[in-house]
Amino acid sequence: MTEVTMTVNGKSVRRAVRGNELLVEFLREQLRLTGTHVGCDTSQCGACCVHVNGELVKACSMFAAEAEGAEVTTIEGVANADGSLNVIQQAFQDHHGLQCGFCTPGMVMSAASLLKENPKPTEAEVRHWLQGNICRCTGYHNIVKAIMAASGQDVATVAAE
Ligand code: FES
Ligand code: FES
Repeated sequence: MTEVTMTVNGKSVRRAVRGNELLVEFLREQLRLTGTHVGCDTSQCGACCVHVNGELVKACSMFAAEAEGAEVTTIEGVANADGSLNVIQQAFQDHHGLQCGFCTPGMVMSAASLLKENPKPTEAEVRHWLQGNICRCTGYHNIVKAIMAASGQDVATVAAE
């Protein structure tokens, strides 16, 4: 076991971790931040996406000890200060960008990174960006719509599948 200190959703945490403990295990099992999901064991689904020092990371692809000193943000840390949904979360709700919701935390974290890099993405750019996030329910169409809407763009032209 080794001690690790990091800031998660603005709070400093210090815990003992196993050398092979994944960041996603640390978040879910030690901190009980279970909004970060595990949907595969091959680092393909994106359900575990979080931000580490502002970068999009699949939390199943990183050891907790590697986050020593890092600023980590999970889905639990992205709502507005008054607790209301942020613009991306609200857009997912407004445009029915989820069904079972399993992929949604990862989708929202991934979308936030896209819009930080590219505030007005085209539909094609959104679809390309989401290659690392798998949704088994929606067919992606309404997720793309939601992200376009969150970027302040007209979604009437988003192509139907
Ligand atoms: S659980 Fe991390 S990519 Fe699937
Ligand atoms: S809403 Fe069910 S997996 Fe995406």
